[in-house]
Order: sequence, then C-alpha cells, then structure tokens
Amino acid sequence: MSDFVCEPLGNQHDRALVDCGVSILNEYLVKYAKQDVKRKASAVFVLVHRAEPRRVIGFYTLCATSVLLSELPEAMTKKIPRYPEIPAVLLGRLARDIHFPRVGELLLSDAIARCVRVASDIAASLIVVDSKDHAATRFYEKFGFLSLPKFEGRLFLPMQTAEKL
Ligand SMILES: CC(C)(COP(=O)(O)OP(=O)(O)OC[C@H]1O[C@@H](n2cnc3c(N)ncnc32)[C@H](O)[C@@H]1OP(=O)(O)O)[C@@H](O)C(=O)NCCC(=O)NCCS
Repeated sequence: MSDFVCEPLGNQHDRALVDCGVSILNEYLVKYAKQDVKRKASAVFVLVHRAEPRRVIGFYTLCATSVLLSELPEAMTKKIPRYPEIPAVLLGRLARDIHFPRVGELLLSDAIARCVRVASDIAASLIVVDSKDHAATRFYEKFGFLSLPKFEGRLFLPMQTAEKL
C-alpha cells in the first residue's frame, strides 16, 4: 500500500501550511477551495501522507467542461464523436508543496485515474488542463498531454489514452 493517499478536501485538512511556491495557488487553497467545493464549482482533492493525515502535501481540482470540436487538432477529430461540443473534465489546478518534491506524478496519476472512473458514469471524451507556464506544460507533455492549438496554455488528453495509462 502506498504511503500517500489522495482524498476529497475536508475540514480535517490543514491548508495553511502548504507552500506550492506559487502564491496564487497557495491562496486558492486557503481562501477559495472550500467555497468552490461547497458551491460545486470544483471538486478539490488533496494528497496526504498516511502518517500525517492532516497535512496537505499537494492538491488538484476537477470540474466539468467542454471543448468545441473545431478547437481540436484535425487528426484528433477522427477518433472522437463528431458532435459540435465534446464533453471533457477540466483539471484546473494541480500543485505540490515545495518540501515534497517528486509527488507531482502521484497527483497527476490520481487525477487521471479519477477522470477515467468518472467518465464511465458521466461520459467525457477528454481531460483538459490549464498549464500556468512552460515548465508546467513540459510536465503535462511528459504524460502525453497535447496542446490545444487555439488556446495558449491549454492541453488535452483523450480519455481513451488516459484509460491505457
Ligand atoms: C508541476 C509540479 C506539480 C511537478 O511536480 P514534481 O513533484 O516536480 O513532479 P515529479 O517529480 O513527480 O515529476 C514527474 C515527471 O515529470 C518531470 N517533470 C516535472 N517537472 C517538469 C518540468 N518542469 N519540465 C519537464 N519535466 C518535468 C519529472 O522529471 C518526472 O519525470 P522522470 O520521472 O522521467 O524524471 C510541481 O513542480 C508544482 O507543483 N509546480 C507548481 C504548480 C504548477 O506549476 N502546477 C502545474 C500547472 S497549474
């Protein structure tokens, strides 16, 4: 069993100590994440160590979105249903505490696995991510995410590819 677990953000989690190295993400977790959960704007999942289950090591957010078929690269449109709007899951934010390097992959793997599970109940053909800079884009590309040509910083992963990961 892994020492780490990803679980929905709850009252037991201490968010104040987290330092992702990006103030806007720290602030999101402390000030807005609980509100987003309450208002169903985003689901927020946190990574904790089993030995210290209150301490948040990293987090990610998921919500429903859609992508216009016309926004996808031509080659991709052959593999998905040709409806004008394609249902997708948006991985809006993902970050880990600077004191816990090398858990980014764990967070992203958990997010992808969750998207695959959810998509079997409520269909979604793509996972979409918003990358905040070039470094984050390279991180996502390592896992097979492809750029959405018409949107700077937005990448996608076909759910069929995610299922194989
Ligand atoms: C992006 C982030 C989550 C990566 O976390 P991490 O703990 O460094 O990731 P891991 O060490 O698990 O990396 C997994 C793989 O991605 C690679 N990787 C990580 N960051 C990378 C980068 N900037 N460029 C290229 N590859 C990168 C790693 O080398 C590793 O590959 P390897 O196993 O072949 O060595 C982390 O840097 C972070 O929280 N950054 C601040 C917030 C952020 O940018 N979030 C993303 C967009 S909102």
